[in-house]
Amino acid sequence: MPSPSEFLQQLFGLESDAAIVIGGTGVLGGALCDGIAAAGAQVVVAGRSRERGEARAAAIREAGGTAEFAPVDVTSRKSFQELRDAVLGRHGRVDILVNCAGVNSAVPYEEIEDADWQRVFDTNLKATHLGCQIFAPLMARQEQGGSILNIGSVTAHLPLSRVFAYSASKAAVNNLTKNVAREYATKGVRVNSLNPGFFPAEQNRKILQPERVKKIMDQTPMARFGEPPELIGAALLLVARQAGSFVTGAEIFVDGGFTGMRF
Ligand SMILES: NC(=O)c1ccc[n+]([C@@H]2O[C@H](COP(=O)([O-])OP(=O)(O)OC[C@H]3O[C@@H](n4cnc5c(N)ncnc54)[C@H](O)[C@@H]3O)[C@@H](O)[C@H]2O)c1
Repeated sequence: MPSPSEFLQQLFGLESDAAIVIGGTGVLGGALCDGIAAAGAQVVVAGRSRERGEARAAAIREAGGTAEFAPVDVTSRKSFQELRDAVLGRHGRVDILVNCAGVNSAVPYEEIEDADWQRVFDTNLKATHLGCQIFAPLMARQEQGGSILNIGSVTAHLPLSRVFAYSASKAAVNNLTKNVAREYATKGVRVNSLNPGFFPAEQNRKILQPERVKKIMDQTPMARFGEPPELIGAALLLVARQAGSFVTGAEIFVDGGFTGMRF
């Protein structure tokens, strides 16, 4: 029998992997960069903000991991293709892609403007599609295959007031995830969703007003927000070649019980 650490290493170790975390510049993506790097992968922190991306990559290197920043604007196919080419040029492979860029918009239903609806769908849904469409075929051509992790939300299943476009886009992300997972299931590429509950971050700062926070806490059995590192365990299960070998098209909720409980 292997030692406990050897056993965990075999299941969850990412030592030989090159991983791109799109939106690694943000709060949740940053935590996922840390976790994936700590499991041994070479992490590409991808996003729009060079400053935040460089800082995250430097912090990972300082902690003993391997990471670098690469720019991407997820609303542009060309930008995605440039990211792919840059990572292939440097690492020669892409084992893991995490689609974690996202934006939100909170307005009463009758006040939603077309441009805002489009912005949310372009960043949350179309970008997830572009990530899958550009990286899944590349992973399928690799001998070792690959894994894509899309970030959904509890709002995909329980549409939340005021965030109409966001909820609808995340429902579509979960749907797309399953469809692409089926498409690549026999081609060595697994595609899954991680659906976080409520974690204070940039994109939801304005939305989390005291009255709304109270409602959220009343509906959350654990009665607290999540801490970004609490996403790492579920993310590793989904991306690790060995631990997640028979898991595709799945959704894992990390939400303190929010979706599982009605009071
Ligand atoms: N925080 C939560 O409670 C929560 C809950 C459920 C789902 N999510 C999802 O988690 C993901 C990460 O969000 P977060 O909460 O960490 O927010 P965040 O605002 O901290 O991070 C989002 C990141 O996406 C990047 N981004 C936005 N538009 C981009 C573009 N066009 N190109 C490249 N990067 C772009 C931002 O610069 C930012 O770094 C999002 O998909 C979000 O919808 C968050």
